Amino acid sequence: MNFRKEIERRRTFGIISHPDAGKTTLTEKLLLFGGAIQVAGAVKSNKIKKSATSDFMEIERQRGISVATSVMGFEYEGYKVNILDTPGHQDFAEDTYRTLTAVDSVIIVIDAAKGVEAQTRKLMEVCRMRKTPVIVFINKMDRPALDPFDLLDEVENELEIEVCPLSWPIGSGRSFKGLYNIFEQKLNLFTSGDSHRSPENIEIAGILSGQADKYFPQQAQTLKEELELASAGYPAFDHGRYLDAGLAPVFFGSALNNFGVRELLGCFLDIAPYPGSTEAKERTVSSGEKSFTGFVFKIHANMDPNHRDRLAFLKISSGVFERNKSYLHSRSGRNMKFSNPTAFMAEKKSVVDKAFPGDIVGLHDTGTFKIGDTLTEGEMINFKGIPSFSPEFFRYVENSDPLKSKQLAKGLNHLMDEGVAQMFVNQANGRKIIGTVGPLQFDVIQFRLLHEYGASCRFEPLQLYKACWMECPDKTQLEDFKMRKLHNMAHDKWGRDVFLAESPHSLDMARERFPGIKFHLISDFAD
Ligand code: G4P
Repeated sequence: MNFRKEIERRRTFGIISHPDAGKTTLTEKLLLFGGAIQVAGAVKSNKIKKSATSDFMEIERQRGISVATSVMGFEYEGYKVNILDTPGHQDFAEDTYRTLTAVDSVIIVIDAAKGVEAQTRKLMEVCRMRKTPVIVFINKMDRPALDPFDLLDEVENELEIEVCPLSWPIGSGRSFKGLYNIFEQKLNLFTSGDSHRSPENIEIAGILSGQADKYFPQQAQTLKEELELASAGYPAFDHGRYLDAGLAPVFFGSALNNFGVRELLGCFLDIAPYPGSTEAKERTVSSGEKSFTGFVFKIHANMDPNHRDRLAFLKISSGVFERNKSYLHSRSGRNMKFSNPTAFMAEKKSVVDKAFPGDIVGLHDTGTFKIGDTLTEGEMINFKGIPSFSPEFFRYVENSDPLKSKQLAKGLNHLMDEGVAQMFVNQANGRKIIGTVGPLQFDVIQFRLLHEYGASCRFEPLQLYKACWMECPDKTQLEDFKMRKLHNMAHDKWGRDVFLAESPHSLDMARERFPGIKFHLISDFAD
């Protein structure tokens, strides 16, 4: 197969959702379609259990498993599909955001009874910023659900994207009768409790033909009215607008019952983008360029403390990656070769000789890589768009074993490179502050410092709202602000100034009093 075809048949995407909306169930159904797993439950049993937050050995064990499930590739009808896992539970970390820098599109799963929830909103911010095309799957229609119009309004308002329904539910919960496929004008009847049988596909020529009355006489009229309202109220599907991240197609269904999933997958493969171009500081790199480039978006430490090696996840942006070929590591200027790069097919890893744009390879790393590092065939390229986001939880970190301060510093640096959390240094007192996006990260950090680096630390409470990166052409105003707010000023890992706002109010006040300063909740505003 030629290079161009290899690129065009690739779909690299992430599934995002709030915990419990059904991401794991949907992933599993997609893998079943792709023949990547044989039995239902294979992914599920690997899932990080919600109850395990205080069991650290369990965290470690599950971290090991999540290496295997963090990229799942499979072949389906001529397409090479790569699903990148975006951890969504208490293990939600910087890592989750960063994974979104490596996807070409996203499927958002929403619980039909709950609507848009907090974590989905946060992840959508990243998609919006990166202009990632999204498809929405409204799940659990077999349960009592919110009204479809209300759900669509909520998606539109909360996720700030125009929607266009491509399927329409007929009732929900006990009265759920199935879906009307707007795109193909077909009816899919729902037979509950039969998750392995394909739904009956009833073809009807337009909804007004009267056939709907035969199958669900009580709801047929409502369906007709709702479809009329929907076609008047929502724009028609426009592929270009979807690719520009201006329009989100919406599907309804039930992942658990495997209902509406095939339609979702079919449409996704049809319309989702193949790997396109990647913005570098120096220039835009197109996937079709012959010369190989790629970037590291995730680093995973080995769970075995006796082998401190790590696995770096590299997304290929252009060209063909080859085993044992020498590549330039842009940040250090050194050449590197990889004898055992791994590919991820389903839950398995295997050594790969060649990989194409859109693919993810795992590279064995002894501590060289940092997130965002670029590999090339010799050109100095640094990909951008891998920013840091303001953490949500902050604590001071203190050494509790004076004899192990070196180990602590080293361990903290490594963990920050992995993207477990962010570290800031207070400009007034020099104390180190750890910021995370999920509270579990503090326990993970403490546990891993002890077990992997022999260092022990304690955390001290710190009430902060957000970390803000600053932009101000007026140096005098900036210096004035920094002097007044010295106790709330810190440096990030790159030495940039960061204002640590204590509350939404204090951030508003700062914005009001210092109109010349822009406060950003994302680090690479200026890039
Ligand atoms: P997550 O990865 O987004 O956290 O969600 P997950 O797939 O684990 O689904 C959360 C719960 O919702 C699971 O139930 C799952 O079986 C259920 N679920 C997913 N899709 C549907 C659906 O379409 N309809 C219904 N009724 N339920 C659905 P659980 O009880 O938490 O787990 P389990 O005991 O079933 O494994």
